[in-house]
Amino acid sequence: MNLLRHKRGATTVNMKIRSIGTRPFEGQKPGTSGLRKKVAIFEQPGYLENFVQSVFNVLAPQDRDTLVIGGDGRYYNDQAIEVIVRMAIANDFKRLIVGVNGFLSTPAASLLIRKYQANGGLVLSASHNPAGPDQDFGIKFNNASGSPAPESITNAIHANTRTISEYLIAEGGDIELDRTHVFTRNQTEIEVVDSVTEYTELMQSLFDFDRLRSGFSEGVLSLCFDAMHAITGPYAREIFEKQLGAAPGSVINAEPLQDFGGGHPDPNLVHARQLIERMAKKDAPLLGAASDGDGDRNLITGQNCFVSPSDSLAAIALNYQCIPQFADGLKGVARSMPTSTALDRVAKKLNIPCYETPTGWKFFGNLLDAGKVRLCGEESFGTSGDHVREKDGIWAVLCWLSLCLETGKSPADILQDLWQQTGRSYYCRHDYEGVDADKANQLIDDLTDQVTALKGESFEGFSVEHADVFSYRDEVDQSESHNQGIRIFFNDGSRIVFRLSGTGTDSATIRVYLERVQLTGDFAAESAQDATALLGTVARKISRMTEITGMTEPTVIT
Ligand code: G1P
Ligand code: ZN
Repeated sequence: MNLLRHKRGATTVNMKIRSIGTRPFEGQKPGTSGLRKKVAIFEQPGYLENFVQSVFNVLAPQDRDTLVIGGDGRYYNDQAIEVIVRMAIANDFKRLIVGVNGFLSTPAASLLIRKYQANGGLVLSASHNPAGPDQDFGIKFNNASGSPAPESITNAIHANTRTISEYLIAEGGDIELDRTHVFTRNQTEIEVVDSVTEYTELMQSLFDFDRLRSGFSEGVLSLCFDAMHAITGPYAREIFEKQLGAAPGSVINAEPLQDFGGGHPDPNLVHARQLIERMAKKDAPLLGAASDGDGDRNLITGQNCFVSPSDSLAAIALNYQCIPQFADGLKGVARSMPTSTALDRVAKKLNIPCYETPTGWKFFGNLLDAGKVRLCGEESFGTSGDHVREKDGIWAVLCWLSLCLETGKSPADILQDLWQQTGRSYYCRHDYEGVDADKANQLIDDLTDQVTALKGESFEGFSVEHADVFSYRDEVDQSESHNQGIRIFFNDGSRIVFRLSGTGTDSATIRVYLERVQLTGDFAAESAQDATALLGTVARKISRMTEITGMTEPTVIT
C-alpha cells in the first residue's frame, strides 16, 4: 500500500510550517450540527483556524492519521478548504482525502471517512441555509465512523477554542484540488478523489440498479429531482439520468452554484417551489424529489401529493423489503423525538424496537454503530440507513423509486396503504423565526417551569395527560443529554413539542411540532395543516407565544 502510494504521488514539496499566535473567539460552540455563523464572522483572521486547530488538539496523536475534507461548495468553501489542508499538513496528518474542488456532499463525506478508514472528517456546510458573502457558513467534525461528533467531543472542541493561543499552518507551495490526483506536501499525502463515482458505487451496492433502469426504460418510473443549485446536482445526474436512464432533464437546477442561485436550498413546500409547481401539473412524473445545500436532506412528493418526512420514514420502514440493503431485515429503527410517531406504529407491526433520540443526526451514531438500528429519520426532511452515518438525500429518493417500482404504487397510494395499515399522524411544524433570543429563551424557560403543572389542564378541548422536558440516555455509552425539548401529551394521543433551533446564525427560531393521531377512518379527508391548526392555537396559548414574542402566527409551516 505504501509503495503504491509512493508511486502515485508526485515529488514531495516541502512547505514552511508556521506557528501563529491567536486569541480565543467567543461563541465557537457547535450547535445541532456543527459551528454555523455568518460568512463575515468566519472571515475574521484566525476564526476558522482557531476552530480547526481546536479539533486537531482534541484528537489524540494516533488519531491524526487520515482526515477527509470537503464541503457543499458554497461561498467561502474553497478558501476554507485550502486553509484546512494547509493546517492539516502543518499538524502532521499522514493522509488527506479531499473531494475534487473541495466538493463533497455530506453523505459522501461520511462514506469516504468509512471507506478510507479515516480518523474523521471536516465537513464544510451550513446545510440548507442560504449562501453568499452575507449569508451562512459552517464547519463540523465527523468521527471515525463518519458520524457527526457526539457532544463529548464537540464540548471538548469548544473548551479548546476558549483557551487556544496558537495554530499551525503550512505556507508556500500549491494546493491543487481541481482534478483527481495524489500529491505530497511535507509528510502528508493528499488524495483528491471523485466522490461522485465513489458515492454511485455505494448506491449500486444498496439498490437494484438493473431493475430500476428497467423501470425507467419501461416507463413505469419517472422522476423530477430538484438539486436546488446545490451539491447534489452532479451526483443526481450521474445516478438518475446516466446510470438509471431517467429522461434527460429529470434533474433540474443541477449546476452547483456558490450562492445556490440566490435561493434557499431547503427542500420543503415553501422553498422547492419549482418542483412543487411541476408536480401539480397533469403530466407530472411519478415521483418528485429535492435535496438541500449539502445533500443530506430530502423532500418526497407525488403528483399533487406531499409525503411528510415522518410518513416517508414510516413508509420506507413498512416497505423495507423493497430495498435490497434491508434484505436481512431492519433490526430496529430510530427517530428524533419531535418526529411523528408513525414510525413507532410501523415498528410495532414489524415487531422491532423503535428508539427516540434528541434532535440532531449525531444521536443516531451509536445506535447505528452498535447495529441496533438500520434506518433512522427526522421530521426535518432527514432519512438514512446504516450505509453512512449522515442523513442521505439521494439515498432516500432511491428508496422511494424502489418502493414505487416494487409495490407498483404511486407515492399517494403508498401513503394510503401506510395509513390504512397503521393509522395516520397528521403532522406539522410551525417555525417562529426571527425572534429576539432573550424572548425565545424566556418562552422556553417559562414552559419548563410550568411543565409539570400542565397535567390535567384543558385547552380548546385538548386535555393534558402528561408533560415533561425530554432527556435522553444513550444506551450504548450511557451519555446523557438534558433539556432536549418540552413535550406535552394530550388524552386523545395528540402531542405538542417546543424547542429552540440550534442551527441558526442570528436571531432565535422557536420550533413547535404538532401531531394528531387517527387510527381508523377516512384518511384523505383532511390536510395535515387543517388537522393540526387548532393544536397550533393551543400551542400559542400554552406558551404565551404572542404575549412574549409578539408573534400571532408562525413564519414557516412545514
Ligand atoms: C435542524 C433540524 C434537525 C436537523 C438539523 C441539521 O436543527 O431541526 O432535525 O438535524 O437541522 O440538519 P435545529 O435548527 O432544529 O436545531
Ligand atoms: Zn443539510
